[in-house]
Amino acid sequence: MGPTMLYQIARAFLFAHDAEWAHEFTIHRFRQLKNSPLLGLVRQRLPEKPVNAFGLTFKNPLGLAAGLDKNGECIPVWEALGFGFVEVGTVTPRPQPGNDKPRLFRLREAQAIINRMGFNNEGVDYLVEQVKAANYKGVLGINIGKNLTTPVEQGRDDYLTCLDKVYEHASYVAVNISSPNTPGLRKLQYGEALDDLLGALMARRGELAAQTGKTVPLLVKIAPDLEPAEIEQIADSFRRHAIDGVIATNTTLSRDGVAGLAHASEAGGLSGRPVAARSTAVVAAMRQALGDMPIIGVGGIDSAESAQQKIDAGAQLVQIYTGFIYKGPPLVKEIVKQVTVGQ
Ligand SMILES: Cc1cc2nc3c(=O)[nH]c(=O)nc-3n(C[C@H](O)[C@H](O)[C@H](O)COP(=O)(O)O)c2cc1C
Repeated sequence: MGPTMLYQIARAFLFAHDAEWAHEFTIHRFRQLKNSPLLGLVRQRLPEKPVNAFGLTFKNPLGLAAGLDKNGECIPVWEALGFGFVEVGTVTPRPQPGNDKPRLFRLREAQAIINRMGFNNEGVDYLVEQVKAANYKGVLGINIGKNLTTPVEQGRDDYLTCLDKVYEHASYVAVNISSPNTPGLRKLQYGEALDDLLGALMARRGELAAQTGKTVPLLVKIAPDLEPAEIEQIADSFRRHAIDGVIATNTTLSRDGVAGLAHASEAGGLSGRPVAARSTAVVAAMRQALGDMPIIGVGGIDSAESAQQKIDAGAQLVQIYTGFIYKGPPLVKEIVKQVTVGQ
């Protein structure tokens, strides 16, 4: 039985259950699988399509997006499935439970998800232990955020704490200032708040590079809900602080394309097919505004074609989350096989 059939059976089972139950069940199984000889059952052998960006070599341009493996517990499984890189997190300095359940909803007709998880995670120390144990040799991004209980004005201390702790264990660090589920977080995308945060993080990165002899690229993950003038301002700040790259985009607050569907009016961020065009437009606008700064394109990729659209809009690399929920490992195979990487 190949991975495709295994996935079809698994998917029928998972989709018959509540979305978060299905998520937890899968993570639990993957945690067992990662140390088991059965890992070979899900391994997909895919062509190498190397991409060089941020001074790193990615074995192919498709990554796992943040939020699926928040605690970094399943890294060997993502690698076996064929992802060219893995982004774990968002992680916060202290463990936190996230928002009350239910907080994760499938909108099947739209191949979409709404979530308001709220950075549920076991804390940065736990994640670092998981990463060390995985001993993964590929490109690993660690996505960092702030605790709910930390006031937004002190948010930068949380990012600095996480940066210090993950620095030696990450291929790149992703600074998440675009989750809609932590009140005030998205304010860090604008004006002085953004400059303060990036200034502090880049200064600390410089110190850590001097101490460790390793310069870890710093990327910032942005929302899809930005006006053209805001994109210009953000890009200007990114250039001034010489950050290494951008991840575009997170989930959207918009409900375009899902109006009237069950769960469409749940609070939270919308992901999947309805966000695809919007996030591709942000990739294109960022590409215009940023010169040759590398971009990871993410949002609604559910085929080789929609992955290619992100690359053609200016992304060097892409990531999936919601597409993986709906289409599973066969989607990884389709994208890695068919996509043409730019350089
Ligand atoms: C349930 C869920 C949880 C997520 N958690 C995070 C997170 O912790 N940090 C983050 O940066 N993005 C998070 N995201 C956003 C995804 O990484 C991605 O940017 C977004 O969903 C758009 O891609 P997609 O359409 O392929 O899902 C989450 C998305 C979903 C659906």
